[in-house]
Amino acid sequence: MSSDKLHFETLQIHGGYHVDQSQARGIAIHPTAAYHFPSCDYAANLFTLSEPGYIYTRLHNPTTAAYEERIAALYGGVGALATSSGMSAILLTVTSLAKQGDNIVTSPYLYGGTHNQFVISLRNLGIDCRMAASDNAQDMAGLIDDKTRAIFVESMGNPTCRVADIEALAELAHSHNIPLVVDNTFGAGGYLCNPLDWGADIITDSATKWINGHGNAMGGIIVDGGKFDWSCGKFPTIDGPSEGYHGLNLYEAFGNQAFIVKCRVDGMRDFGCCPSSFDAYLMLLGLETLSLRVKHEVESTYRLAEFCRQHPKVRSVSFVGFEDHSSYELAKKYFRFGASAVMTIELEGTLESTVKFVESLRLSAHMTMIGDSITVVTHPASTTHKQLSDQAKEAAGITPTLLRISLGLENVEDIIADYQQALEKI
Ligand SMILES: Cc1ncc(COP(=O)(O)O)c(C=O)c1O
Repeated sequence: MSSDKLHFETLQIHGGYHVDQSQARGIAIHPTAAYHFPSCDYAANLFTLSEPGYIYTRLHNPTTAAYEERIAALYGGVGALATSSGMSAILLTVTSLAKQGDNIVTSPYLYGGTHNQFVISLRNLGIDCRMAASDNAQDMAGLIDDKTRAIFVESMGNPTCRVADIEALAELAHSHNIPLVVDNTFGAGGYLCNPLDWGADIITDSATKWINGHGNAMGGIIVDGGKFDWSCGKFPTIDGPSEGYHGLNLYEAFGNQAFIVKCRVDGMRDFGCCPSSFDAYLMLLGLETLSLRVKHEVESTYRLAEFCRQHPKVRSVSFVGFEDHSSYELAKKYFRFGASAVMTIELEGTLESTVKFVESLRLSAHMTMIGDSITVVTHPASTTHKQLSDQAKEAAGITPTLLRISLGLENVEDIIADYQQALEKI
């Protein structure tokens, strides 16, 4: 049966599974670094990319391949590459598109780690990351020049939950012959939001979050939508002679999979940020329940957001499912249920009373995590976004009393009771 006819809930269980000699219904974990070559000719063909097959687990592994195939099926992409973390998925994506002297245009509504990778590490490597005043297409357009190689946004910004207008940004990117890259971590593995359906070209996703869902493995994923035209002249390392493969042209050899092949055969080969087969297995296991978990978490987010909204010690609640959220309309358009499993609140009071509140919670884990089975509360100003300048914090909407909450799988009545008692302490 063709996988594009199956629903998300079915693909999250069946995608990437092929019966092997053992007839085992579970997908095996292959804890191997390398693979046997039956002949020297066969090995030589693998190394010149003229024959598909396993060389070394840094490049590919059967367990990881099943996971990548499942993710590609869920997103409807032509291929996926699993990485050791969400950060390395972004690094491999950007460095596969831009080289020294090039630039990418991005928005200020980014996860703090991505912000640092862009404005410190990538700039130090000679890739200029130009941060627009907002994620509006007009603001981004002004920063694009002939050296721009991608527009990069988060489908829903961390932590403000601002939703990017994916369709408008895709149109802008394509009018300049560059791809739109979307970090879709908040889109929960494509279940809540699939930017490829709205014109985005490449997805990055921190699989550490909803894809895994249990906070027990780190991972990232890159998905290639397979629709971008790499022959536009701006990407000679994809459509041009490859330095690493004796002049092989990846676009001619691999067609609409050229980008994801490049990420693997150049990026992963050289930077080496591969996942272990055990972590790939944990991702496969997590994926099997993705839709069920996310649905429960979104429903709980609505409930906790309602409770916080009427509490006098909560100054404001930011939840995209509420009509007063600035991204309400865009969330309705791009996100299933018009919502996400993350909300933020700002408490009345000071930094000190906010700290007291966080430390009074008994059920919510105080950590830097989202998409876990346990409800998580994070204080961005002292953790995820601490490295940002005051100005950058302000642009990203981070105040001293702001808290990000990612709902887990508990009974939400217990979570609400926990918030009630902690609010009474301040
Ligand atoms: C939106 C977003 N992108 C990327 C990352 C980085 O992912 P990882 O922690 O798996 O490296 C995170 C981490 O929280 C995130 O929230």
